[in-house]
Amino acid sequence: MEGGGNCTGRRLGRGEVHRHQEGGCLGLRVGEDLVGGSGGLSPISMGKSSTSWKENDLLKASSRKLIFAANTYSVSTMATDEENVGNVKRKLGKLFEQSLRTVASDVPDVEPSIVPCTAKFGDYQCNNAMRLFSQIKGKGTEFNNPNAVGQAIMKNLPQSEIIESSSVAGPGFVNVVISKNWISKTIQAMLINGIEKWAPRLAVKRAVVDFSSPNIAKEMHVGHLRSTIIGDALARMFEFSNVDVLRRNHVGDWGTQFGMLIEYLFENYPNWEDVGETAIGDLQAFYKASKQRFDSDAAFKERAQQAVVRLQGGESKYRKAWSQICEISRKEFDRVYQRLGVQLEEKGESFYNPHIPGVIKALTDLGLVEESKGARVIFVEKVNIPLIVVKSDGGYNYASTDLTALWYRLNEEKAEWIIYVTDVGQQQHFEMVFKAAKRAGWLPASENAYPKASHVGFGLVLGEDGKRFRTRSTEVVRLVDLLDEAKARSKAALIERGKAEQWTEQELEQTAEAVGYGAVKYADLKNNRLTNYTFDFDQMLNDKGNTAVYLLYAHARICSIIRKSGKDIEELKKTGTVVLDHEGERELGLHLLQFSEVVEEACNNLLPNVVCEYLYNLSEIFTKKFYSNCQVVGSKEETSRLLLCEATAIVMRKCFYLLGIVPVYKI
Ligand code: ARG
Repeated sequence: MEGGGNCTGRRLGRGEVHRHQEGGCLGLRVGEDLVGGSGGLSPISMGKSSTSWKENDLLKASSRKLIFAANTYSVSTMATDEENVGNVKRKLGKLFEQSLRTVASDVPDVEPSIVPCTAKFGDYQCNNAMRLFSQIKGKGTEFNNPNAVGQAIMKNLPQSEIIESSSVAGPGFVNVVISKNWISKTIQAMLINGIEKWAPRLAVKRAVVDFSSPNIAKEMHVGHLRSTIIGDALARMFEFSNVDVLRRNHVGDWGTQFGMLIEYLFENYPNWEDVGETAIGDLQAFYKASKQRFDSDAAFKERAQQAVVRLQGGESKYRKAWSQICEISRKEFDRVYQRLGVQLEEKGESFYNPHIPGVIKALTDLGLVEESKGARVIFVEKVNIPLIVVKSDGGYNYASTDLTALWYRLNEEKAEWIIYVTDVGQQQHFEMVFKAAKRAGWLPASENAYPKASHVGFGLVLGEDGKRFRTRSTEVVRLVDLLDEAKARSKAALIERGKAEQWTEQELEQTAEAVGYGAVKYADLKNNRLTNYTFDFDQMLNDKGNTAVYLLYAHARICSIIRKSGKDIEELKKTGTVVLDHEGERELGLHLLQFSEVVEEACNNLLPNVVCEYLYNLSEIFTKKFYSNCQVVGSKEETSRLLLCEATAIVMRKCFYLLGIVPVYKI
């Protein structure tokens, strides 16, 4: 935010509505000098053609029936199994649910609480006994203490191939050791059927992820970079989980700033229509110059205000100038998206504008809209300022657009989960919009019910000085430059390692990009998104520690083990068997199997860092527990161990994919 805090410097809504005020972010008006009429435009769809990769993914995910050659069991039932085949936690949950129903037949709806063990008593533990005992004690129960309840839960577990053994510890924790054979069988099935079979099952079928969303004619800053990276990762995680994701770029393309920009264009580029977009060149400089003109010349200001009215009234010359300005920004944004490999469909603020009056009317008819200081507002619970939905001059603002967009996404697009990725500074804005939607009955009152709207907030990006990240000139950092520098640095490091001699120029370029952009993304995603993080090239490009470089190299090393064995891994998948006799093999195998529940957790809690942590641990377990103890090439267990290497590489690649990182195969 201009003026401190961590809000993004988004453009102001019509009538210059600014949400941010000292300290908190309030929905108050600060300047109403650029007033436009409320006349709407016809829907303007600037959405680019949607992608077809989703269909591919769906095709891949469609069920296949395969029979194992080397094993006697058929995986046909597993492959078409309604529930996820690789989700250990969910499978255990089902077993414990049955047991709990027997043990606590009087207590309704006991949800099994299953977590991985922290101590070495087992792999997973069920924590229900203690709470259950407190619920049944004194009510004629046969159990004397929680431990006895735990014993009963254990004894009533149904027979299952998943569980090797179980025990009860302390006050009633039921510890379970997962069957080695089941782990190896499940990994083998994954090698044949693909990791898509390990995709989590989520409660929704369609979601909107509203992310990136920069403002036209303004710099796309580091906050937008965070939104782009986090939003893309979330979208990928949901897509992998077979959710239809509408990736929405809610660009700020409908503000009063356009009056000033258009007028400035007319004034300085009389032949703007012929020269087209090339007339403007640097849009930021253009913005600055027009703002200066606006602030210093009353007559210009007057014309700019008129221009807004004419634009919003739909006058074609104004509309044309507006689209031209939008197009320049769009090209600039696309340079960032292209580098990051991010897909977005633009439905900017202007898209929702024609729907605003209808939505406000509906809210008014419901009796939600009140008059306050000349404006029309909605009061919501536990927030002492109202949400302004129509300004005192009759114009609309950021909140009117967001309420309408929410309505549209729920009713027209039938989304069941709507996710907004912005800095935490906008938290109150979204809280108020969601609460208004609840009052209107668009969203259920309960937090856990669907349809649901969630704000995914994130913290600041800091410079090495611990202050907000800026370049030396105190200008905001240009994102394209930042990404180019990451690539240049990783290329230099590769050249230093002698890769220029070993690789083609194309290989060098591609690896430099994968590593450079991957490093920027991973440095952002690995932290809990709510914390601020320091942008530090040296740290993120370090090949040791928890960095993308380290992980990408670890993956490449695994690929090279497989290559160097000289074996045809596709053939081994069909004929070989995974054996987990060594403790290191077993630990790796179990961790591989936890992929599914980790992605599920990351989706449900909207936390990509959970996947990063899993990926880092996977790489550590592979190296420290498995590879340093278990000889692969040339050992008698070679086939099984090569398959474990391959399974690790597959899971790592899927994690990279979910984080938007391109894997490298050699280093
Ligand atoms: N354009 C806004 C900004 O730069 C972000 C928009 C987020 N999405 C939304 N539906 N409000 O701050």
